Amino acid sequence: MSALRGLAELGGLENLPVVVRADLNVPIDEDGRIIDDARIVAAATTIRALMEGGAFTIVLAHLGRPGGRRVVPAGSLLPVADRLSSAVSSLVAHAGDTVGPLARAAVLNLRPGDAVLLENVRFEPGEADDDDALAAQLAGPGRAFVFDAFGAAHRRQASTTGIARHLPSVAGLVVAQEVAALEELRIGGVTSGVVVAGGAKAADKLPALERLAGIAEAILVGGALANVFLAAEGGALGASIVDRGAIDAARAVVAAAAASGCELVLPTDLVSTDGLTTDARIGVEAADAIGDRRVALDIGPETAARYAERIRGAAHVVWDGPPGAFEMEPFRSGTDALIAAVADCPGTVVVGGGDTASALRGAGRADAVTYVSTGGAAMLDLLAGRELPALEGLRA
Ligand code: 3PG
Repeated sequence: MSALRGLAELGGLENLPVVVRADLNVPIDEDGRIIDDARIVAAATTIRALMEGGAFTIVLAHLGRPGGRRVVPAGSLLPVADRLSSAVSSLVAHAGDTVGPLARAAVLNLRPGDAVLLENVRFEPGEADDDDALAAQLAGPGRAFVFDAFGAAHRRQASTTGIARHLPSVAGLVVAQEVAALEELRIGGVTSGVVVAGGAKAADKLPALERLAGIAEAILVGGALANVFLAAEGGALGASIVDRGAIDAARAVVAAAAASGCELVLPTDLVSTDGLTTDARIGVEAADAIGDRRVALDIGPETAARYAERIRGAAHVVWDGPPGAFEMEPFRSGTDALIAAVADCPGTVVVGGGDTASALRGAGRADAVTYVSTGGAAMLDLLAGRELPALEGLRA
């Protein structure tokens, strides 16, 4: 595979209008406070370099999954623009739309060395299906494109793969650093040990897990992802979230694991609840017998102990996706147990995914592991040896 073109290949930055796609998808609480700013701090390296070089920097990013609805106040990037401004030590303006009059005016107001963050690109209906007319509009104000959203590199969307069809394109500093670090870890054999996969987004992770099943010694599954495997085996999941559209892909992982002797480990007990009110009845149930109208939200103590023991003894661990809804106190024990285990593990430990990395940092244990990626499914794909669509247009 040829190397990625980098920022140096843009030549002189002075007066160059550059469109940057960053991953600024950070957790924000109900009061608009950013809970974990690591992706913003990472993206700031590229944006600061462009600003210092005298470019006109036009930043595109997504926040959450507003589903192409024009305006969802909770999806606005306004609080992110504030935090980005402090991360680059200079004002980053925020435009109230993405390709409309506010964005056009904000771009016209830029002076060399200025930057503007346009509104959530997922407010645009054409984003999700890589609509070429939208891609052309997003590329419109630029003369070059810097793709730096490593966490979204597995997506074929107008702002990831689309813009590169319209502008000379290079990788930003985050993408260059992530690809170099993860490639080195992959070649070093990190995927030959224990893979821990949880969280939601089953459809995104299962193709990578199918490949990893041919490489890893064991895959430990938790979170809503585990529900898909448990449902595929005919388990009763009550009212838990089950992505039924992903069941065939889960079966393919089971088959790949069986064919290669990889141990696929599923939860045997789960913490479930009958609601989210203060008087909710929370309890531990067998993983294949969750009661009617009950929702599983964490792995149970027996599963957590088993997974933790396996992780502590592993030579290599890759972890993407929490085993439970750790943001809610009653459902964070499984995640806490896995954080303690990866921190104790003497082997090589790679952690990725916005939620997982945020939980690790929240517990103050990020320094105890080998590498923390800004990407989740993108990290898994790269480690599994799958080409990331958004990188195709950046190769020399
Ligand atoms: C992530 O949080 O993993 C990336 O920002 C991609 O977000 P997405 O899964 O909503 O595309």
